[in-house]
Amino acid sequence: MPIRHPAPRTPFHIVRMSHIELGVTDLEASRRFYVDILGLVETEQVGNTLYLRGLEERNHHSFVLTQMERPLVRRMGYKVSCEEDLDLLAERFQQLGLPVAWAEPHGQGRTLQVRDPLGMPLEFCFHMEQVPRMLQRYAHYRGCRPMRIDHFNCFTPDVQASHDFYALELGFRTTEYTETDDGREPPELWAVWMHRKGNVHDLAFTNGQGPRLHHVAVWASSVNDILHLCDVMSTSGYLDHMERGPGRHGISNAFFLYTRDPDGHRVEIYTGDYLTVDPDFEPIRWGLRDPQRQTLWGHPAPRSWFEEGSLFEGVETLQPPQVQAEPIVAP
Ligand SMILES: [Fe+2]
Repeated sequence: MPIRHPAPRTPFHIVRMSHIELGVTDLEASRRFYVDILGLVETEQVGNTLYLRGLEERNHHSFVLTQMERPLVRRMGYKVSCEEDLDLLAERFQQLGLPVAWAEPHGQGRTLQVRDPLGMPLEFCFHMEQVPRMLQRYAHYRGCRPMRIDHFNCFTPDVQASHDFYALELGFRTTEYTETDDGREPPELWAVWMHRKGNVHDLAFTNGQGPRLHHVAVWASSVNDILHLCDVMSTSGYLDHMERGPGRHGISNAFFLYTRDPDGHRVEIYTGDYLTVDPDFEPIRWGLRDPQRQTLWGHPAPRSWFEEGSLFEGVETLQPPQVQAEPIVAP
């Protein structure tokens, strides 16, 4: 604690998280995983970069996979409400002394590229090239029938500082949070779920060595879609790519499966959270040692889930977590 009330009227309007670029070491292995197994739609390949999207998405891409020598996260993308928002955001990042650059990545309009105070690479754009949606082309459905990208979850060495920046500077609202419950006073913030788009989160922070990406999530329409993916993965050579679940989270109430791609990037399949648009929504508190926090049914996550994540490009010196507290870990 404390949980901050978000800045009520930021001069710019961030609509939602919208895309991610991941460095991968074998583009064909990644295509098999993301397209053939998970079921994302391939928009196009340009050189060594693959552009993918969900079935309902009309944007050119939500996942960008680029062949690199090492698996890294290159950018976490957000959409804003108009072109002017980009200039207002740039102005604010400059006032804060944070690095600002402009780019026009393939498939996107003018794009602001920045880093947050902990070094996480972000980008903001208004326009993305529009492509046909596949929502009603059912013959093309595969895997978990992923509809759209849903959220990022990042390890941060300072959950309170990350929370404060996104709430006070960027206007993110908090829906749920975890704090220490071992009697220390005051309790310390251990994880936080924050949104712009009106569901549980666009972005979550977890206490840990960082900054690193913990996972990126795609949204599926139903629990059955996730269970079907379990059947597909377990019978097509991807059994050891299923890291945790399926299960139901305590936090968010969402149904989930955590997978690992061929480079170890963690991808969650996620469905069934809830509406959070009310401005007076009171954040929901969880104690770190509550056995129903991670999984409503009481199953703890494996140790890998608390320790392994993806490095951000250009941020390879990791800071140890400031909060020293042990979550419940599966034996
Ligand atoms: Fe998640």
